[in-house]
Amino acid sequence: MSLSEIPYMRWAKNHAHDGQVNLTQSAVPALDWEGLGLDPRQIELFHYSRYGDPGLLQDIACRWSLAEEQVFLASSTTHVHFCFAAGLLEPGDRVLHESPGYFPLVDSLSMLQVQPVSFERRFADGYALPRAELREQVAAGVKLILLTHLHNPTGAALSESDQAFLADLCDSTGVFVLSDEIYRPFLDPDPGPLHQLHPNIISVMGLNKVHGLPQIRIGWGFAEPGPIDRARRILDSTTVHNSCLSDQVAMYAVGQMDRLERRARGIANAGWDIMGPWLERNGFDCAVPAGGLVCFPRVPSPTFAERALEAGVNLTPGHFFGAESHVRIGFGMDPAQLSNALQLLESVIE
Ligand SMILES: Cc1ncc(COP(=O)(O)O)c(C=O)c1O
Repeated sequence: MSLSEIPYMRWAKNHAHDGQVNLTQSAVPALDWEGLGLDPRQIELFHYSRYGDPGLLQDIACRWSLAEEQVFLASSTTHVHFCFAAGLLEPGDRVLHESPGYFPLVDSLSMLQVQPVSFERRFADGYALPRAELREQVAAGVKLILLTHLHNPTGAALSESDQAFLADLCDSTGVFVLSDEIYRPFLDPDPGPLHQLHPNIISVMGLNKVHGLPQIRIGWGFAEPGPIDRARRILDSTTVHNSCLSDQVAMYAVGQMDRLERRARGIANAGWDIMGPWLERNGFDCAVPAGGLVCFPRVPSPTFAERALEAGVNLTPGHFFGAESHVRIGFGMDPAQLSNALQLLESVIE
């Protein structure tokens, strides 16, 4: 086993809250019980299920007219992602992953002794998929492609033609795609999981980013029964079962999803209304995110984030995502606070 060298999560835990104001967050502000509309006294402290409450599996499946057998539940999006990947891969298998990207997903696979191969999603191409390169890599033996949709860190959505390309690639080669869609419900309307396009595309998500429930620690994935059975074997050895507390809160949240997603899009729109014009006024090159609370502008110097922190504003340095000439800026916060933070940043630009 080789331990990861990619320190993003360490930095996020230890430093994402440094500074006077932090623009490092990619999640909506957390809800309280009242905001969720659930009385915690209704929650049972003990309720046993093997692989998640069947009612919850059913509710999640129903939302996208899928079957309960196509839903896998685990303790977070990251856990779901790991279980699927570990269930599909053998030591030595090649795994394609995007750069810039959210590296903890590929990082956790270092324990499986797979061979990670990165491909670039280019700023100049609007972060579209490099189709010829993906085709070549799959022909050369890649077994699994990891994607984020929306893309972390840029907020780009996969275009319909990229989605059709992926479905066709799966069909013609048998390759699997593991698509992290934790940010997808920021899209309005939410087109739903890419799993709907092809059985080999596995979609994973959770309640951490859009729904205001980061502490519920739950995630789910849509796949066919074969990969789900293999993922459950990995779950059996990486935890015993999910928490029934998480299951119950998640079941309530799934019933409230339209309302929670409207709240999230409202926060995203209000933030972008300030962020977008500010980027333009200050001459930043930046792809307009398709949704979500972060953008990934190019900056004049790789030390931009350091200098911003000296001025009191914490940004996520682009090197954590594999692009040191960019920074990730979160704008999902109180508009007055955001405007103040951006004003502070102007001193750094000057
Ligand atoms: C793309 C992506 N997936 C997953 C996660 C983490 O989700 P969870 O806490 O449900 O594992 C993050 C957090 O930043 C993320 O950006």
